[in-house]
Amino acid sequence: MRKIRSAFLTLSFILLCLPLNAQQSANSVDSQINELIDKMSIYEKIGQMTQLNITMINTTGQQRDVVLDPDKAINLIRNHHIGSFLNGEAVPAEVWFTYMDQLTRIAMEESAHGIPIIYGIDHMHGASYLAGSTIFPQNINLGATFNIQHSYQTGWVTAYETADLGHHWNFAPVQDLGVNPLWPRIWETYGEDPYLASKMGRAYVEGYQGNEEIYPYKLAATAKHFFAYSNPASGWDRTPVQIGYQALHEFHRPPFQAVIDAGIKTVMLNSGEINGIPVHASEEFVNGFLRDQMGFDGVIVTDWDDIGKLVDFHKVAENYKEAVYLAVKAGIDINMTPLSLDFNKSLLELVEEGRISEERINESVRRVLKLKFDLGLFDNPFPRNDRLDRIGTEESRLKALAAAEESIVLLKNENQVLPTIDVQNIILFGPSANSKRNLNGGWTLAWQGGEEGQYPDDMHTIYTALHEQYPNASIELIEHVSFDEANRREFISQLDNADLLIYAGGEEPYTEFIGNITDLRLDQNQIDEINYLSQSSTELVLIIVAGRPRIVTDIIQNVDAFLFAGLPGFEGAEAIVNVLSGKTNPSGRLPITYPQHTGHFVTYNHKSSDVYFFNPDEANHIAQGSESTALFQFGDGLSYTTYEYSNLTLSANQINPNDTLTASVEVTNTGDVAGFHSVLWFITNRVGTYTRPVKELKHFEKIHLNPGETKTVTFEINPRATLTYPDQNGNPLLESGEFVVRIDSLSSTFRLNK
Ligand code: GLC
Repeated sequence: MRKIRSAFLTLSFILLCLPLNAQQSANSVDSQINELIDKMSIYEKIGQMTQLNITMINTTGQQRDVVLDPDKAINLIRNHHIGSFLNGEAVPAEVWFTYMDQLTRIAMEESAHGIPIIYGIDHMHGASYLAGSTIFPQNINLGATFNIQHSYQTGWVTAYETADLGHHWNFAPVQDLGVNPLWPRIWETYGEDPYLASKMGRAYVEGYQGNEEIYPYKLAATAKHFFAYSNPASGWDRTPVQIGYQALHEFHRPPFQAVIDAGIKTVMLNSGEINGIPVHASEEFVNGFLRDQMGFDGVIVTDWDDIGKLVDFHKVAENYKEAVYLAVKAGIDINMTPLSLDFNKSLLELVEEGRISEERINESVRRVLKLKFDLGLFDNPFPRNDRLDRIGTEESRLKALAAAEESIVLLKNENQVLPTIDVQNIILFGPSANSKRNLNGGWTLAWQGGEEGQYPDDMHTIYTALHEQYPNASIELIEHVSFDEANRREFISQLDNADLLIYAGGEEPYTEFIGNITDLRLDQNQIDEINYLSQSSTELVLIIVAGRPRIVTDIIQNVDAFLFAGLPGFEGAEAIVNVLSGKTNPSGRLPITYPQHTGHFVTYNHKSSDVYFFNPDEANHIAQGSESTALFQFGDGLSYTTYEYSNLTLSANQINPNDTLTASVEVTNTGDVAGFHSVLWFITNRVGTYTRPVKELKHFEKIHLNPGETKTVTFEINPRATLTYPDQNGNPLLESGEFVVRIDSLSSTFRLNK
């Protein structure tokens, strides 16, 4: 009896202590922060709000050189108390380790109060700036998989490969919406739908910040670029956005809200302006929206030199000091300055003049110190090089390959020209046919994508992947089509003798303003080459490797098959060829609308009046389907099998706000090939106070079906979670009326009562 009593008392004591330990630890961090704040000078505090670029501390001043100049680092940390640095390019892990170890030692020796630095970097689709790392598809491709596991794994593997190297702060994921196909960063988004972007971004954060294999390190992800950055009227990067508050709340806020609710630790601001106010100068958007309305209490970082841009780009500040005043007042915590000490000098003057209070500085410094404590940087500031075999494992490569395979979107397959199983003679054309860099886009090895020779020797291009897939076939690569009339007959005859022609076109890598364009059409030379090839009687497959849906309307009827491959990453060529050969049954579905016309594109969740046709005949003439003028719709994607949806049923035909309605449908693989298939559930709210999208994605899941197999898929509709939408103040509206559940070509209506 006594033993039981003693065990009970011990257990009770442990249970009583548990909450106190958690609470104690929070109190302890707070008290340590308070102690530091009390000890720090104002200039030391301002140093914690400053992030400088690698070029300020490396030997050459070139971004690519990850080699520390100790004297520069010592000066900036000892005399200016700089708390954060960023950037570099893809160098081997050992080089990163040496650089970060040296920098950290200097920081711990020179920092006035032993405050560790935090290093920021753009590992955007795997460890982009680490040689030998695993590189996943870009986000636009992850969106096309409609499988959140691939976004989770991208985050998880990125953490696994970089945490040991001192890369504690990754400027990912991009939570912007890919709503404007001209925009040069659309491929960095998960696509045009807020629900898809929310689910994908949340999965990334859970994988990256939640990775438990990287102990003792913890990492901080970054939601960027807050917000509405992605829909500039001109389609050019960082140009003005005009958008109503109701649309801000309904479309651009949810992907950021989702990752904030998932515990993301930092947010990076949008460099542009919204409705005439640059975000970096907007108390309304930063303190108002992001902190007060959306509840974000982590660290807010500017984007590159965006305080400087308030002067010379947006022209809302007379000089840099006034720009600092606006940005600090708006609520930024860290300034990615990143190439001078102007911020430190200006902010010190503003505090000494009493225009910015020390308490305001303390607010940001608390957040920065809390971030560093949360990441364990005070206890484990140093990198380690005893687990570098974690980088570039076969297991990780297979995860990237699986993601790439599920991201390829087959949009046309006339007469089942694909898959091409037994083929003896392929002729391959186009600028992406034998390119590694085109498969990856920007933020790969270097800001604008590395040079071809920097990519791994063992990385496939489409050309080499074809050779591997068809070892006994003749695979000829013709990089440029000759239009020489004298050789035309002979050339066409050569084409006619082939079994298959493949044209791999698209875009060279780019990001940000470097990728601005004035015409969404595919490059004219590629159009001409494709049209020339289509004179042959041999079947022609077009593959677009690009970050944007370049217009192919003029040639789509001249090709037999069309794949939008997006930017599938290091394993992309193998994934593309696996789809061509049938090793992979394609399951990618467009996460963006594919425009038909250069002068008109709207997203799938447009308003009824977006494509209003006065004359119904005109609708039939212009639009494919009654809702849009797109060439291919959001969610389009073919398989080598067919899927049939049947028996859509609703558990009720009317419900009250607190009820739950269950929709279910049967999905059957009616073909003879097994496949993965993303089931996309949409809802139409027939009538709303604010105009409602013609339909909205509200749920998706990916299933696998063998030939002849049927699965029942369900979707639980909880009105308050699924049917509300925000008014212009962000307050949720739940309005009674008719709603339509749509899945594939089926639909069923139910009524929501008051
Ligand atoms: C760039 C980008 C941002 C990136 C940052 C640091 O300007 O807009 O996405 O994280 O600079 O490289």
